[in-house]
Amino acid sequence: MSEQPRRPRKPGKPYRRPQKDPVRLLAFEALRAVDERDAYANLVLPPLLRKAREKEGPEKFDARDAALATELVYGTLRRQGTYDAVIADCVDRPLREVDPPVLDVLSLGVHQLLGTRIPTHAAVSASVELARVVLGDGRAKFVNAVLRKVARDDLDGWLARVAPPYDEDPEDHLAVVHSHPRWVVSALWDSLGGGRAGIEELLAADNERPEVTLVARPGRATRDELLGEEAAVAGRWSPYAVRLSEGGEPGAVEAVREGRAGVQDEGSQLVALALADAPLDGPDRRWLDGCAGPGGKAALLGALAAERGAFLIASEKQPHRAGLVAKALAGNPGPYQVIAADGTRPPWRPGSFDRVLVDVPCTGLGALRRRPEARWRRRPEDLDGFAPLQRGLLREALEAVRVGGVVAYATCSPHLAETRAVVADVLKRRPGAELLDARPLLPGVPALGEGPDVQLWPHVHGTDAMYLALVRRTS
Ligand SMILES: C[S@@+](CC[C@H](N)C(=O)[O-])C[C@H]1O[C@@H](n2cnc3c(N)ncnc32)[C@H](O)[C@@H]1O
Repeated sequence: MSEQPRRPRKPGKPYRRPQKDPVRLLAFEALRAVDERDAYANLVLPPLLRKAREKEGPEKFDARDAALATELVYGTLRRQGTYDAVIADCVDRPLREVDPPVLDVLSLGVHQLLGTRIPTHAAVSASVELARVVLGDGRAKFVNAVLRKVARDDLDGWLARVAPPYDEDPEDHLAVVHSHPRWVVSALWDSLGGGRAGIEELLAADNERPEVTLVARPGRATRDELLGEEAAVAGRWSPYAVRLSEGGEPGAVEAVREGRAGVQDEGSQLVALALADAPLDGPDRRWLDGCAGPGGKAALLGALAAERGAFLIASEKQPHRAGLVAKALAGNPGPYQVIAADGTRPPWRPGSFDRVLVDVPCTGLGALRRRPEARWRRRPEDLDGFAPLQRGLLREALEAVRVGGVVAYATCSPHLAETRAVVADVLKRRPGAELLDARPLLPGVPALGEGPDVQLWPHVHGTDAMYLALVRRTS
């Protein structure tokens, strides 16, 4: 099917102005920003929502409108792979030849048709009205024709048609059905192991909206205080975690506003707790977070260090991110210092620390639930860029820790090239360091595998897919 050329209106048919629907317009604007400017949906949305509320007034743009706009943006971005396959089946040319703004309107429409409970006629007509406003009447006809084709079947019907059979090409099948790039499916499956059921559950979990989890920073807030909030329930694994059910707004929590608590996935909390609890002989006075920005783990480590009378240095290469760390640590009950330094050329003397965290920069494939566009931005080549940095940071962390001290190497990616391969490589070249069994340091957390390192999973633990290896320096 081709885009319709602009034609003069039929005589006698009165012109009707297109209806501006602030929710769809906002969603379209957000998708364009993500597409055109490589913006992040979670950063673009809040100002757009604020602007819409101010422009329309709270009655015409209320909390339900904001929730729908957010759902449309996140859902469309997450399911883009599936929706592209459906749209490709309904147009008569390669998708790269369809104008990106047209594709955005189509994807938004397909999401409403196949991914929400919005009735078919409403989904089509809202999309056509949006197309009339942002693309013009000619291209709105094209949108109408494509969406009418899409509306002939439901999601399962479309998947049966556009996804290759599992038996012929399992990875391609899963890539289309669960809307992940094929190389990501492949990498996640390599790390997860096992058969079809597990990887399907993991990919499905990546398409769910994660709950908001809070951390009560020890010595500054208690979990009971946070549990007093509406819609709050205790976390699953971390003694400091509280989960907010749908609609829970962290900004409304006083302890969060005061920095005594923060928003932090339980996987990140567990990494900090495991490092703090790792067995140590000798002094336990100086802790280092070598990749601290924006400061979530540093704030938890800082509070734990304060309880033990230890000093925390939180170091971050990017000065503006070091500023965020300083903000996260403000009010910490114990002594700390925030510095901007390159962890691969550190300013500290070797052997200065008892505990060191390096939460290294990575592809972020473990946090796909939070960043709906991330899976489409990342490329396998990105791994080559991170590999030397990750090795360099771990190597220097092992120099920074004293003999008998412990280093925690963490990533928010389960990709084996960023996890086990880095640790194995560095330890192979550096005698005098041994892996500790991290599993007993995550008490009560099930299904941690054979160790000694730990990989958490969204579909198993409800956390981001954080990886943790604990290494003790022995000489
Ligand atoms: C995964 S993030 C750390 C997240 C942090 N631990 C938290 O919980 O908020 C990795 C950080 O390492 C920083 N970084 C990148 N290269 C670095 C280097 N050579 N030395 C120190 N930090 C670096 C990045 O700017 C980024 O802020």
